[in-house]
Amino acid sequence: MTSENQPKAGHRDTPVSTAFREFMASGWAADDRSPTPRAEVADHAARRRAALSERFPGERIVVPAGGLKVRSNDTDFTFRPHTAFAHLSGLGSHAEPDSALVLEPAPEGGHHAVLYFRPPAPRDTEEFYTDSRYGEFWVGYRPTIADLESELGLTARHIDELAADLAKDEAAARLRVVRSADGKLAELVDTTRTQAGSPLSAEEQEEADEELARELSSMRLLKDAWEVGEMRKAVAATHQGFEAIIATLPEAVRKGRGERWVEGVFGLYARHEGNGIGYESICASGDHANTIHWTKNTGEVREGDLILVDAGIEIDSLFTADITRTLPVNGRFTDVQRRIYDAVHEAQQAGMEAVKPGNRFSDIHAAANKVIARHLFEWGLLPEGVTLEQTLDQENGGWHRRWMVHGTSHHLGMDVHDCQLMLREEYMDGELKPGMVLTVEPGLYFKADDLLAPEEFRGIGVRIEDDVLVTEDGYENLSAAMPRTSHEVEEWIARVSGAAGNR
Ligand code: GLY
Ligand code: MN
Ligand code: MN
Repeated sequence: MTSENQPKAGHRDTPVSTAFREFMASGWAADDRSPTPRAEVADHAARRRAALSERFPGERIVVPAGGLKVRSNDTDFTFRPHTAFAHLSGLGSHAEPDSALVLEPAPEGGHHAVLYFRPPAPRDTEEFYTDSRYGEFWVGYRPTIADLESELGLTARHIDELAADLAKDEAAARLRVVRSADGKLAELVDTTRTQAGSPLSAEEQEEADEELARELSSMRLLKDAWEVGEMRKAVAATHQGFEAIIATLPEAVRKGRGERWVEGVFGLYARHEGNGIGYESICASGDHANTIHWTKNTGEVREGDLILVDAGIEIDSLFTADITRTLPVNGRFTDVQRRIYDAVHEAQQAGMEAVKPGNRFSDIHAAANKVIARHLFEWGLLPEGVTLEQTLDQENGGWHRRWMVHGTSHHLGMDVHDCQLMLREEYMDGELKPGMVLTVEPGLYFKADDLLAPEEFRGIGVRIEDDVLVTEDGYENLSAAMPRTSHEVEEWIARVSGAAGNR
């Protein structure tokens, strides 16, 4: 190669001498850590895998964790594994990027679980001290094969063995993969099963994958006692985060750009108490509350306004809460704020009362909406001549929905919108069953420029959201410890602010 053809060195490509390499490879103490003890979640994950195994006998199932997502240039977002991977492996916030769980059909029937990942490079390799994504010198301790086998009670192998193992026998033609988790692994599975003579067309193969994804989504519908316990932890952590917000409201007013301050305080608790926020926090003061997904959070927090905070903490097992409180910034609702707030609370209570086994999921929305519509009707907001019955007619009515455009409920768990791939007949039209966890979150939103709203309502938005467990004979509000009625909220603010010495 002539000198012009030689690749140009990047500013970080520093030449490394043999002497330096040898020096870096020496002088490290032997790794004498014992393998990670078996995790509590291991048995639960094994049960989930057994259920999946029954559903797809003889098939090789690939559930990738996903890789690091580039934030910009050479920096990545914090890694968060695909939910199906976390659910089936038991690896939550400490999952390794670029791993894959494979359910390997066993000759005796059922499946063996094999976790493929990239074990840490030994101290005598360059990867150890040069690889800023995977080298332990850069990213700290990473588990070994023995660690993961001990912690999770499954077989672990090097990710480099995955391609050959997927192709090794006739099950190569009967592969399914969670496509959305890892594009590169989806391509590998596509090639492998086609080369192995899969009788399915490319389209049919993708349909088979979609069926797997739907199954994995619906498998999370009923939470067992351990999972409900995790939900309780997520809710308790979120409760603390909300109290920290209340304590900081005067500071948020003083500082300017108070919505960001509130977002940051909640984020502090989320990172300290758990893995992080379960979704982007909505910290919406004044008219911003009327933007359903206001996550810019750039606004002021002003005395006399309400601030709507919709936020949830995802704990290390990746279960998340999803809670909304609408708080009067100065601790007292005005009469008109209270009128709207109490209407939303009444709707929420009606929605909760509809949570019982045998009712349909969509009954919750219907019950809450009926209350919302009645208030709007009584306030005279529906068009002239429209009756309550007419607006509640789903096919030909719906005027009240101008002020509450969103649904009242969704399933909740390791994803904030859990079980999202299920079909309408199983989700919206499905029957409520003990063990389901869902939100009840009606709202009323009167935008500042809504000329059909009474002037005194404009700029006020209220949502109240709680996390509810379906029980044998009704429901348990998992977030019941967080005050909800307008009077309770005022007392809550007074108590927390008093303790913080704020007011
Ligand atoms: N924060 C999203 C939701 O409530 O569904
Ligand atoms: Mn929600
Ligand atoms: Mn929410």
